[in-house]
Amino acid sequence: MGMLKSSLAFLVLAFAFFLCFIMSTGDGSYNYFQFVQQWPPTTCTVRKKCSKARPLQIFTIHGLWPSNYSNPTMPSNCNGSQFNFTKVSPQLRADLERSWPDVESGNDTRFWEGEWNKHGTCSEQTLNQMQYFQRSYAMWRSYNISKILKNASIVPHPTQTWTYSDIVSAIKAVTQTTPSLRCKPDPAAQLKSHPAQHKSLPTSQLLHEVVLCLGYNAIKQIDCNRPKCQHQVGIKFQ
Ligand SMILES: *[C@@H]1O[C@H](CO)[C@@H](O)[C@H](O)[C@H]1NC(C)=O
Ligand SMILES: *[C@@H]1O[C@H](CO)[C@@H](O)[C@H](O)[C@H]1NC(C)=O
Ligand SMILES: *[C@@H]1O[C@H](CO)[C@@H](O)[C@H](O)[C@H]1NC(C)=O
Ligand SMILES: *[C@@H]1O[C@H](CO)[C@@H](O)[C@H](O)[C@H]1NC(C)=O
Ligand SMILES: *[C@@H]1O[C@H](CO)[C@@H](O)[C@H](O)[C@H]1NC(C)=O
Ligand SMILES: *[C@@H]1O[C@H](CO)[C@@H](O)[C@H](O)[C@H]1NC(C)=O
Repeated sequence: MGMLKSSLAFLVLAFAFFLCFIMSTGDGSYNYFQFVQQWPPTTCTVRKKCSKARPLQIFTIHGLWPSNYSNPTMPSNCNGSQFNFTKVSPQLRADLERSWPDVESGNDTRFWEGEWNKHGTCSEQTLNQMQYFQRSYAMWRSYNISKILKNASIVPHPTQTWTYSDIVSAIKAVTQTTPSLRCKPDPAAQLKSHPAQHKSLPTSQLLHEVVLCLGYNAIKQIDCNRPKCQHQVGIKFQ
């Protein structure tokens, strides 16, 4: 009888630990990361409130977003630790000022704080604050999108358009995995009717962001599958 009691107690205890485990890992429910780099001139065209007269002409970090394949609204604002920049070394801070500037208001710290609190908290079990920013910076250093596109003769141009696959192929040739592109409407585009599809489409869209994807542990690069550009519409890079 005593034997039975203690093994029952053991089972109850084990189950309680199991529940705690599920709850602590279930908070940031994600299965992969999207590493998003933005083209500041497009951010400034669409937001119209950039601080600098001439935005930077290099791709800079927007964020590292834990994401869920089956749920397009990513986990956000999870119960992690709040942003605390004393946890990031001065050297990393200097690196982030170059790689992850706030292109709109110019308050970099506020931008980092917003990205950590919204996204980073959902993957804190994998990357703590220091690691979250370090990993992002390392990705930016490893994959210089401006350089990759230039190498493929895709350079800023006021009117030229590229296809989605022109741009994706150039990046994939270097990263070996499929990126996703994100576009914004081109204010200069016109609507053109496409009788075959029974609808009108804009004549162009603007390249805004390039996404590289990483597995759950933020180590292995994987294919992305969540493009945000209109199919069959030419892409301007300007
Ligand atoms: C992804 O989202 C779905 C739907 O909200 C949810 O059921 C699932 O648990 C999430 N996946 C992970 C790995 O958390
Ligand atoms: C965070 O914790 C609070 C209180 O413990 C809870 O009400 C809330 O649902 C949690 N939020 C998430 C995203 O887990
Ligand atoms: C920020 O982190 C430092 C170092 O870990 C700690 O001493 C400090 O109390 C933290 N501040 C807040 C507001 O959590
Ligand atoms: C920038 O943002 C940080 C964090 O939100 C805030 O503490 C600081 O006062 C802001 N700086 C300026 C100059 O607005
Ligand atoms: C990325 O490439 C661009 C264009 O070749 C170059 O100007 C820039 O210095 C590079 N950035 C880094 C961090 O290597
Ligand atoms: C430049 O382009 C060639 C193919 O045209 C590719 O093999 C090479 O990896 C690219 N290099 C860089 C640094 O983008």
